[in-house]
Amino acid sequence: MSDEPSIQSLPRIGDPAPDFTAVTTQGEIKFSEWQGDSWTVMFSHPADFTPVCSTELTEFGKRSKEFAELNTKLIGISVDSIHSHLAWEQNLQQILDVKLPYPMIADSTRAVSELYGMIHPGESATVTVRALFIIDPKRKIRTIIYYPLNVGRNVDEVKRALIALQTTDANGVACPVNWQPGEKVIVPPPKTDKEVEERLSNDSYEKLDFYLCKKEL
Ligand code: BEZ
Repeated sequence: MSDEPSIQSLPRIGDPAPDFTAVTTQGEIKFSEWQGDSWTVMFSHPADFTPVCSTELTEFGKRSKEFAELNTKLIGISVDSIHSHLAWEQNLQQILDVKLPYPMIADSTRAVSELYGMIHPGESATVTVRALFIIDPKRKIRTIIYYPLNVGRNVDEVKRALIALQTTDANGVACPVNWQPGEKVIVPPPKTDKEVEERLSNDSYEKLDFYLCKKEL
């Protein structure tokens, strides 16, 4: 067998989110209908009844209202069976006192995992890595984050990226490194001499150079 990585077509940022039907802990869904007009954060975990996954899924559970306030639905996925998901949910409620309010896809055929490129054979040939997709209401993939099996994700960063996307969409701006909601945003670079002059004469901007200007929202 060759050591070359297999070339698989993976969804990329800007691509339409592939649609699918799947069995979940909240019944069968057609993804596009379930999503409706919301943003979605879809995240895969390697396996039920494992420690890091338990911390991640309960953290998303505890904070699901914060995502709902951002018009965002959460949905989990792994290749475990629906029976395993249901039993794990009960167990998490017993040991950590957290009820998972979002659906979890039981992708035992790996159909959805393959569609979204969540199986990375160099990391594991059998289970999904920690993949996370932020999908906008037009069902376009806007952010993709991959983490390995042994490192848990940062829910604060997922929420920050989501708010940054919503802020850039609403205001036609960009968000700088380590940006937090409420901080200044980046004014997109000028495209014409006139735009350069306009920004240089705008006293409300923080001007570091003509191409690097920040403003309050
Ligand atoms: C975990 O969630 O702890 C885990 C799952 C799969 C591989 C390694 C760690």
